[in-house]
Amino acid sequence: MKRMFAVAAVMTVAAPVGVAPPVSAHEGATGIVETRMHAMKKIGKAVRDLKGMMADEDDYDADIVREQAKIIRLHAGKKMTQQFPEGSLQNPTHAKAEIWSDWDRFSELAHQLKDLASGLELAADNGLMQEGLSHMEDMMGNGSPSLDALGQMPADGLVTMIIETCSDCHRAFRARKP
Ligand code: HEC
Repeated sequence: MKRMFAVAAVMTVAAPVGVAPPVSAHEGATGIVETRMHAMKKIGKAVRDLKGMMADEDDYDADIVREQAKIIRLHAGKKMTQQFPEGSLQNPTHAKAEIWSDWDRFSELAHQLKDLASGLELAADNGLMQEGLSHMEDMMGNGSPSLDALGQMPADGLVTMIIETCSDCHRAFRARKP
């Protein structure tokens, strides 16, 4: 650890004067806050790619859908909750203290995201929904559907549910940008 700090210090001193640091939304973020912001950004990009693909059947590519679903799955569940150690509200975080007063709900949403992403990996070959939502609503009727049931769904239905899960968690646990 000490050694790393020493190296960092030398690098800081040696950095050419006048070169501006890269500007990003994460400027100033360090440690776990930076880690989770990066992770969220990655799944944000995955969702953008998926959304684009769901909009037009001609753009649909099951391999890419599977890939993006996997990225989301790997960042969800326990992997996600571990990035929110109690009280980690250091600047410039947008996390809310409610995460730790309502941990069960927070954790449930992180795991729900993982289940849905796993479902999408299985469902990638199903392609887009052919005829309305009725089938999907049947399956969603009673509580958490099994992975098998999710795997039978049209991919765009799952993408919609994934996006709703992101939004549910953000609404409850992420503060608005200033
Ligand atoms: C279990 C709760 C939860 C889920 C589920 C969740 N997020 Fe987040 N997300 C957060 C919290 C809390 C923050 C704020 C983190 C911080 O600033 O420290 C955040 C921040 C973000 C950010 C901003 C990152 C930055 O650069 O500041 C993006 C983008 C994002 N989430 C995208 C997504 C997407 C896309 C999904 C769904 C695929 C998703 N999130 C699912 C809780 C969640």
